[in-house]
Amino acid sequence: MLTIATLGCGARGRTYSRFAAALPDRYRIVAACDLVECRAQEVAGLHPEQPAPVFLTAEDFFAAGKLADLLIIATQDRDHYAHAIRAISLGYDILLEKPAAQSLIECEDLDQKAREAGVSIGLCFVLRYTPFYRSVKEVIDSGKLGRIISIHASEGVEPYHQAHSFVRGHWARSEHSTPMILAKCSHDADLLCWFAGSEIAEISSFGRLDFFRKENAPVGAPHRCSDGCPHAKECLYDAHRYLTDKRGWLRMVLDGAETASDEKVTDFIKTSPWGRCVYHCDNDVVDHQVISGEMRNGVTIAFTMTAFDSGRSMEIYGTKATLKGGAAWKEAKAYELSVRDHATGVTTEVPVMHPCEEGYAGHGGGDFGIVDSLDKLFGGRGALQPGLDGLAGHRLALLAEASRLTKQTARVTIGK
Ligand SMILES: NC(=O)c1ccc[n+]([C@@H]2O[C@H](COP(=O)([O-])OP(=O)(O)OC[C@H]3O[C@@H](n4cnc5c(N)ncnc54)[C@H](O)[C@@H]3O)[C@@H](O)[C@H]2O)c1
Repeated sequence: MLTIATLGCGARGRTYSRFAAALPDRYRIVAACDLVECRAQEVAGLHPEQPAPVFLTAEDFFAAGKLADLLIIATQDRDHYAHAIRAISLGYDILLEKPAAQSLIECEDLDQKAREAGVSIGLCFVLRYTPFYRSVKEVIDSGKLGRIISIHASEGVEPYHQAHSFVRGHWARSEHSTPMILAKCSHDADLLCWFAGSEIAEISSFGRLDFFRKENAPVGAPHRCSDGCPHAKECLYDAHRYLTDKRGWLRMVLDGAETASDEKVTDFIKTSPWGRCVYHCDNDVVDHQVISGEMRNGVTIAFTMTAFDSGRSMEIYGTKATLKGGAAWKEAKAYELSVRDHATGVTTEVPVMHPCEEGYAGHGGGDFGIVDSLDKLFGGRGALQPGLDGLAGHRLALLAEASRLTKQTARVTIGK
């Protein structure tokens, strides 16, 4: 039985806690903390027969000492480092939402302090736990691809998702959260390291905020969608879509969204950041970025992030075969995951076992998958070593951002 405390009971903290509470013979939620009481109460009440204590500030929570084997930290990006440092000092193993911290120095500091304290920190790289990416890893480990020579991957954020999270939402300004390449693509950076079996050696990156700017606002567009925008009908980003086909996104930002009346949602659109015209926000994070790099073991990588596509795709070129998979292939009605053997020229489908039970959803099954692995990660056989697991991916993303900002087309070199 692994006991769990949750600090930050917003969208992510609630998701992990609910999945954990649904496995009561393995996990027990023993404390919940959030600045918003109803969120903490919801998590604390997940075992109704024995509700957990509620804390309304991180200070009160940490002052109570070590309350559980594992602490889930799912507060906002800018607080992760400070909350993790406090948790390490109390001896908690930690499931830490990504990004671990806002700078490479802080990430490395967390790694060092965790090692010194004998504490394991797992980052919420939920994609590692999806059936799709597990299948990719199995193919690599089977040796079918031979030696991996290069990897090409892409992430299409999807235009409305970009608008919701990275133009109007929590991750729109890098000074308040983290750069887009870390906030959104730290999963991809982690996967690149995981699949290449190495760390980044040299990297260059380009990208900018091109589209979601005031220069691109249609003539006469007001600063709020509710102020009678003449373009509402044809605008892809009209906030009134939160009343209809985009309502699901409100669960992340509006308490009680599931049962909220249309009046409440309309009021939210009138008053919250999510009702702003996407061309008149204060966003500064990129809407497209590319990375090219070389790993320490010589594998080359190329990665594209764009607001203007949907889903992740990947190609892995090996000496014996090529793997192709992901959204682009599925959309083209090809195999979702396939391997083409160089010797025979034959392409074979790799079956991906998608679980279909309700609840096994969220990030392609990864949200449940990571919770299902917690007792193995923190205490079981093959458990995480002390330190920050996932540091390599963060290093890749943060060095890419440094390259983009300094416009150093020469690579950022950290030695081979
Ligand atoms: N792993 C993934 O795939 C993934 C996906 C989305 C978001 N995230 C990350 O997860 C984190 C949480 O995202 P979210 O969408 O759940 O955000 P959220 O805003 O819904 O949740 C954060 C919660 O933390 C609470 N909080 C903030 N400061 C606090 C404090 N000092 N003490 C106690 N509670 C505090 C807030 O009240 C809020 O309820 C972010 O860092 C985000 O980048 C990860």
